[in-house]
Amino acid sequence: MSDYKTNRDFMKSDFAESVHEISDQANNVPYPPLQKPLPEGEIQLIQLPDPDSDRLVKPDFHRLLLERQSRRKFTPESLSLAELSYLLWATQGVIVTLGLGYASRRPVPSGGARHAFETYLAINRVEDLEPGIYRYLPFSHELYFQEPAQNLPELLTEANLGQKFVGNAAAVFAWSCIPYRAEWRYMQYAHKTMLLDAGHVCQNLYLSVEALGLGTCAIGAYDQAAMDAILELDGEDEYVIYLAPVGKI
Ligand SMILES: Cc1cc2nc3c(=O)[nH]c(=O)nc-3n(C[C@H](O)[C@H](O)[C@H](O)COP(=O)(O)O)c2cc1C
Repeated sequence: MSDYKTNRDFMKSDFAESVHEISDQANNVPYPPLQKPLPEGEIQLIQLPDPDSDRLVKPDFHRLLLERQSRRKFTPESLSLAELSYLLWATQGVIVTLGLGYASRRPVPSGGARHAFETYLAINRVEDLEPGIYRYLPFSHELYFQEPAQNLPELLTEANLGQKFVGNAAAVFAWSCIPYRAEWRYMQYAHKTMLLDAGHVCQNLYLSVEALGLGTCAIGAYDQAAMDAILELDGEDEYVIYLAPVGKI
């Protein structure tokens, strides 16, 4: 039997306690990087097209809200790189970097502007992209090609507890969390905020997917260890917290 009380308490705000404690930020510890560093050596970077609002097929905001829904049936068609570019920008693109680089403003809000997430993509079918695992670089609006895929649909379906529409989607967004990026400022009070932030990111995906005439579905039911393994995350200082498959409908 899981501990409901601990989980319920975790959902409540304990920020009032934070005034009695000194964070790394208050101790002048240098801020952590706002984007995960890239590996040394030869790497493959893909420049993304500019996010272009001309390609929105449903620009009417009220209609977007009415028609937004979770979609679990996708056609076998590919996404275009321009569509993917728009979705990446709408969910985690950088509008402006603050100060000398301690925080950033993006199309989604984030407690303390910490934006403690990295966006990974498991790509099955996107024009001009080899199937595989990619990571979004929000400060340069590029993709880093992490590795080619072997059996990606099967691996993803299994890691998402048999949800086949996830494994077979054209692209799967997987948001990881690097908790220290928010703990640096908010210590043990950071974790609730990060979970709230993740909701904003996925909601922007829902709305922009709808505006582009595509489909998505938030995914909270997944195997933590299996998803972390697919993306090669250590599960401690970085781990998956939310996913969303995207495809044509
Ligand atoms: C945090 C969260 C986790 C979810 N996890 C799943 C999931 O693992 N599988 C799934 O099919 N739908 C999942 N959903 C989608 C919900 O089932 C869906 O939002 C709900 O049925 C309402 O439908 P609507 O989004 O079309 O309004 C999730 C939604 C949220 C917000």
